[in-house]
Amino acid sequence: MLPFFLSAMRIDIITVLPEMLDGFVNTSILGRAQKKGLAEIHVHNLRDYTTDRHRRVDDYAFGGFAGMVMACQPIDACITALKAERDYDEIIFTTPDGERFDQPMANSLSLAQNLIILCGHYKGIDYRIREHLITKEVSLGDFVLTGGELAAAAMTDAIVRLVPGVLGDEQSAFNDSFQDNLLAAPVYTRPADYKGWKVPDVLLSGHEAKIKEWEINQSLERTRRLRPDLLGE
Ligand code: ADE
Repeated sequence: MLPFFLSAMRIDIITVLPEMLDGFVNTSILGRAQKKGLAEIHVHNLRDYTTDRHRRVDDYAFGGFAGMVMACQPIDACITALKAERDYDEIIFTTPDGERFDQPMANSLSLAQNLIILCGHYKGIDYRIREHLITKEVSLGDFVLTGGELAAAAMTDAIVRLVPGVLGDEQSAFNDSFQDNLLAAPVYTRPADYKGWKVPDVLLSGHEAKIKEWEINQSLERTRRLRPDLLGE
């Protein structure tokens, strides 16, 4: 539980496929964060907000372009209903042409109190929603997913795990890959010798300073070898 003056971080996800997200947000770290009262994740079915009698949320594109476009009305109705209840730090739209999601963005979004994530689908959404309601457009990377649900799930996971208290070991998020623009050092567990595959001796030495030095050197070496771009090389 949080002290009375702090309230849990809240993420509202708007989607046409709530069944894709319901299990995910209530399982593992995200489920535990919610049980501990540190985060609230609400999944909203966009179809609940349409005024169309067939529950449709999309329509043909003007200009004769191929594919269906998500219409303004249900998205506007859902976002307006949420905004009437509380202020939002960001209203995020998941889209391959958005700003690239990375650890610094996850860090800064983890400081937010309330976030909306709108999952894109089909050919896209009516551009007026992006112009008038969305405050941040985010992409997971240079590839195209069928919908924004996987992107919303990945972002929610990366953000909520940074909320203090969500990870069991407070320190562990600091040691993540990318947290200092460095990849994490390798980790090992028992047995120290598995089929002749040995754990580095230094980790068994109990010598804290030497272990720390080994960890930093491993991080630097792996970053230089695998992601030199992170070091500006
Ligand atoms: N929707 C479809 N592709 C996407 C991507 N790469 N990132 C975020 N949302 C998306």
